[in-house]
Amino acid sequence: MSGPAIVWERRDRVLLITLNRPRQLNALNRDTVRELNALLVPADKDPALGCVVITGNDKAFAAGADIKEMQDKSYQAMARDDHFAEWETFARLRTPRIAAVNGYALGGGCELMLMCDFAIAGRSAKFGLPEIKLGVMPGMGGTQRLPRLVGRALAMDLILTGRMMDAAEALAAGLVARLVDDDAVVETALKAAETIAGYSKPATLLARDAVNRADEVSLSEGALFERRVFHSLFATEDQREGMAAFVEKRKPTFTGS
Ligand code: HXC
Repeated sequence: MSGPAIVWERRDRVLLITLNRPRQLNALNRDTVRELNALLVPADKDPALGCVVITGNDKAFAAGADIKEMQDKSYQAMARDDHFAEWETFARLRTPRIAAVNGYALGGGCELMLMCDFAIAGRSAKFGLPEIKLGVMPGMGGTQRLPRLVGRALAMDLILTGRMMDAAEALAAGLVARLVDDDAVVETALKAAETIAGYSKPATLLARDAVNRADEVSLSEGALFERRVFHSLFATEDQREGMAAFVEKRKPTFTGS
């Protein structure tokens, strides 16, 4: 009997999720995505949830999709089941998500990280999309999200050679937002999550919606979308509170309304 593929802990307005298949270096199987979605689809609608942190363990954030689960599949089965489509549900969740990465973030593990809003990584973390070495290619969004983040040349390099990138290169390339000591990764991510969760949720949701629009539309359309959602925040009490608190030189208390 194997245990749950994820474990989680709610800390006030922050949800900490730990991938929990350490013997397989957190290889992502169907249970992983199903358990993540079963937890997060309802949680995403919870106004009291401000941010999610996803982490692994010291050795691996996740070393890829579960190769053993896929190895005997036929083309017909992969296409019929639309294998990996469930990750799109995860990718579309709106509550801000931070990946807290130690060790390997490879293949689907790197792609899971790319589905989070940003990553905080340890100095010994290693990244890559090595699927090419298995006779396949990225299938959880890597060919689309990686070039948008690090540029086409480096994305092609990583996807076609399958080489691993160290943490310093990942930071310089913009793949991760911050590097910290390995043992400070989760704590730093939780602190960032608490900061985000302390802001107005309508504002954090719309801010990330606006950033994400940039991947879909032209600059002028994106800027128009940004202005319209910016205007809409003036319908919130949190806008009144945030600006009043600044003027009155006090700390704001946001309620999400
Ligand atoms: C299933 C995996 C796994 C994976 C590791 N394991 N990665 N099982 N799927 N992706 C298992 C190993 O089989 C092994 O189990 C145990 O975890 C420990 O791994 P080792 O290889 O013994 O550890 P180590 O020698 O330290 O090497 C670490 C590693 C290596 C360099 C990260 O495990 C590795 O190269 N893993 C595969 C990385 C990869 O190719 N990822 C992309 C996957 S494809 P046992 O039972 O033997 O002890 C992917 C697809 C995306 O993500 C979509 C396109 C199809």
